[in-house]
Amino acid sequence: MRCQEVGRVIARFRVLMVAGIGTLILAGCGALGESSPLAYSPNKDLVEKLKDKPKVQAQISKVVADLFGPAPDRMRVPPGAPVTQGGGLLATRLQLGEGPGAEVVYPVQEVDAGGQVELRPIRGGFALYREHCMHCHGASGDGDGPTGPWLWPRPRDFRMGVFKFTSTAGTGPDSKPTRADLRRTIGHGLDLTAMPAFDSLLTPGEIEQVIDYVIFLSARGEVESGLVYLGQAIEDADVETELSPESVQEQVVQIVFDRWRNAEDNVIEPKLARSRPTRASILRGRQFFLGEKGLQCYTCHGLDGQGDGDSFIGYAAFKHAVFDQNPRPDQFEELKQLAESANPPKKWADDWGIPLRPANLTVSRYKGGRRPLDIYWRIAKGINGTPMPGHLGTQLTDDNEVWDLVNFILALPYERTLLDGAQPVPTGLPAPETTPTATASAGG
Ligand code: HEC
Ligand code: HEC
Repeated sequence: MRCQEVGRVIARFRVLMVAGIGTLILAGCGALGESSPLAYSPNKDLVEKLKDKPKVQAQISKVVADLFGPAPDRMRVPPGAPVTQGGGLLATRLQLGEGPGAEVVYPVQEVDAGGQVELRPIRGGFALYREHCMHCHGASGDGDGPTGPWLWPRPRDFRMGVFKFTSTAGTGPDSKPTRADLRRTIGHGLDLTAMPAFDSLLTPGEIEQVIDYVIFLSARGEVESGLVYLGQAIEDADVETELSPESVQEQVVQIVFDRWRNAEDNVIEPKLARSRPTRASILRGRQFFLGEKGLQCYTCHGLDGQGDGDSFIGYAAFKHAVFDQNPRPDQFEELKQLAESANPPKKWADDWGIPLRPANLTVSRYKGGRRPLDIYWRIAKGINGTPMPGHLGTQLTDDNEVWDLVNFILALPYERTLLDGAQPVPTGLPAPETTPTATASAGG
């Protein structure tokens, strides 16, 4: 079987890439022939918002298929795509260029086989994703796999290009995850959610392959929705000029690819090392949590830190919408209406429209990691795609203040009395002298 054939070494593949091969066409190997063909599901906005512009619609579909391939098992990797080795980790079998002269290679990786290094063919990100991720995240990366509707929170829809747990500056689609961020998410999973930890199931090499496939699906989806957005301002008559390959490249593709490429240079590195979790530091963090300097943590996380703050829809309504009924297409509509009609309106969901709770900060479990640095990033830059805002550069002006909050957050689960009888600190006024009863020291 051709897929088992050991092809040429990656080194050769790299040389070919440098020689300026254009589009790379990839095909997964494996059980594809035995199952029904995979298809990308249509972008909802493309179908609905552009329904009166058939030519714009058709052109967008064509452009996306030309760039990324018409179906998951007929992938194309556009030049400049933000994946490793020009896409060399994405599939078992790669075709360089098009036409009868096109060359086919089977990428290999070095594997330690009982002390000896062997070259083995890779499975590729696509095959690994199909096996391990697709039933949740869907063939298009839209989070709509068959397991999805039964989970809360739902599997991520990658197509918005927004990732919650990143270490990079900016918000929303500007704050792309670094490969290290994705490695953490995929390797360790997201605690408190159905997102599994894969580091005992996949080798480090395989995790790199699947990271590239997540980036591929996300970039495809973000380019597609960027084009739909552009398409709304274009008339059918102007399609040829407005959505020409050059124009699409410049107005959408380049921007999406650059965001990914810039992520590694965009990491927020604390300028000061973590301050020691002294009593004083923890208590300063507590005052920030309760409103000093205008910080609003308690309005979402609650005065007791358990995640039931007034800004969010109450727990009972949330529980009813999410857990007391089987999934149906309009499952969350009622909750949304309830939240939006409250006075003042309540928060209820993330940017994907999935109901959300502020974290319960008394249980010492965090989706995005429990290292002090992880908590630093959550507080300093917020959680993309959710109401949890960034605080460094707005209310918090230096790293030590962020570390005070980190020290408080990490102490709280071990010293719940820290928030006994807590009251909001009046904004802008100096902190009142409050001394919590317990004396246990934190951090260890
Ligand atoms: C059982 C279902 C399930 C499987 C299988 C699964 N995921 Fe997830 N994944 C989730 C859920 C649920 C979330 C979202 C959690 C949230 O929103 O808090 C998620 C989120 C993510 C995120 C987004 C992280 C962020 O910062 O926003 C990435 C990336 C991801 N998964 C990658 C993968 C990859 C790669 C695989 C396969 C190797 C995989 N997932 C398999 C359920 C799953
Ligand atoms: C506007 C509401 C809001 C405010 C204000 C807010 N948060 Fe959050 N926070 C959230 C939500 C919602 C989540 C859960 C996000 C998710 O699970 O996707 C969260 C999650 C967290 C987490 C858990 C991160 C993880 O990895 O699971 C921590 C820690 C946290 N917030 C700390 C704080 C601190 C400290 C402040 C104040 C400086 C603060 N939050 C202000 C809404 C808020």
